Amino acid sequence: MDYTNSLEFAQQQDINDPLRKFREQFFFPQHGGRDVVYLTGNSLGLQPRTAQDYILDELEDWANFGVEGHFHARKPWMPYHEQFAEPLSRIVGALPPEVVVMNQLTVNLHLLLVSFYRPLKGRFKILCEAKAFPSDQYALESQVKFHGYDPSEAILEVEPRNGEYCIREEDIIALIDKHQDEIALVLIGGVNYYTGQVFDMKKITEAGHSKGALVGFDLAHAAGNIELSLHDWNVDFACWCSYKYLNSGPGGVAGAFIHQKHLASPDLHRFAGWWGHDKASRFRMEKGFIPMPTAEAWQVSNAPIFSMAVHKAALDIFLQTDMSALAKKSVKLTGYLEFIIQEINKSLPSNGKLEIITPVESKRRGCQLSIIAHGRGKELFLKLQESGVISDWREPNVIRCAPVPLYNSFEDVYRFGVLLSQALV
Ligand SMILES: Cc1ncc(COP(=O)(O)O)c(C=O)c1O
Repeated sequence: MDYTNSLEFAQQQDINDPLRKFREQFFFPQHGGRDVVYLTGNSLGLQPRTAQDYILDELEDWANFGVEGHFHARKPWMPYHEQFAEPLSRIVGALPPEVVVMNQLTVNLHLLLVSFYRPLKGRFKILCEAKAFPSDQYALESQVKFHGYDPSEAILEVEPRNGEYCIREEDIIALIDKHQDEIALVLIGGVNYYTGQVFDMKKITEAGHSKGALVGFDLAHAAGNIELSLHDWNVDFACWCSYKYLNSGPGGVAGAFIHQKHLASPDLHRFAGWWGHDKASRFRMEKGFIPMPTAEAWQVSNAPIFSMAVHKAALDIFLQTDMSALAKKSVKLTGYLEFIIQEINKSLPSNGKLEIITPVESKRRGCQLSIIAHGRGKELFLKLQESGVISDWREPNVIRCAPVPLYNSFEDVYRFGVLLSQALV
């Protein structure tokens, strides 16, 4: 696509954008009497304007029905979580029974590791990416220790090559091959939080399976950002949060995927709770756990309705479009951000250029670009913030910018360029 660094060009793109109506459905923080340039949907998505009403409905139903709200609320609480399986399955490319909304991301990761990290004598290693999100690192270390292994021996990390930022898939596969008899589990962040790199999940899953390992993904930065086909890729399990691209509020309720092939497995270990028990007999309150025949079997506690109400508000907007339309706009919008940064680079000295460390090919990235401003540190990020840009800073030296196709515009990206140029002076 041919881009132009001008307000007229950006505005024309917005006029032509079939998704432009969605912007109005979100609250934008204000700066100097206008919307901030919000490029942080990869950290916390914006609030849907309908979220308050969805929560108020539940508060009202609680006031009116008390405990009877479980059956008589307008959206009864007892089966409340069930309404997410179908829409979320479309977002992550799954079958509805493979998807459940529950807990928080790291909690779900732990629950899934209980089932899918089953180390045996010789086969006890977990392969993950170096510098995985710290919560994943801690979860993996603690799980390995829980089974009596030493993390320095049991965790294999794939690193980027010297002088590179992204990890090559061929290096992941080579490490799987090298340790083929020892790896019990491959667990990767489907989109790396730091670089924005999208991994070829199908290829990694095939490689892991071909050597007898199970394969799972942390999709915190992937769900609602890129097109996924978890079922068809034969992924064993995955989990994600809802507060980033799924716009469901800080600490919002998270999601999990368990492939159909595992759902009926009677031997699977699980940390069980009553909400995972077969719903037909749950209230007989009898001894002996009978798992639901779906991903709901992994539920431990009853549903957090207020958090789910926001999730419902957010997904009701999300599902007025689909991942393929969002991905199509995302390629153009992130391409425009890349173009604007390269335009700015033309006037910067060779030792002070902006380096985009996210892959260039659109299938290897989602909407996020991670930028290193050589010779400039956090001070540039703070200057941007003062001028009305909300992006985010990740230690040691990266500014992450994510134009989200659901609510960001080409004009946002153009304005970012203007404010970035000013901040660089
Ligand atoms: C890749 C990744 N994994 C895990 C987490 C932790 O999520 P939570 O605090 O919701 O458990 C995050 C949070 O941003 C993340 O980006």
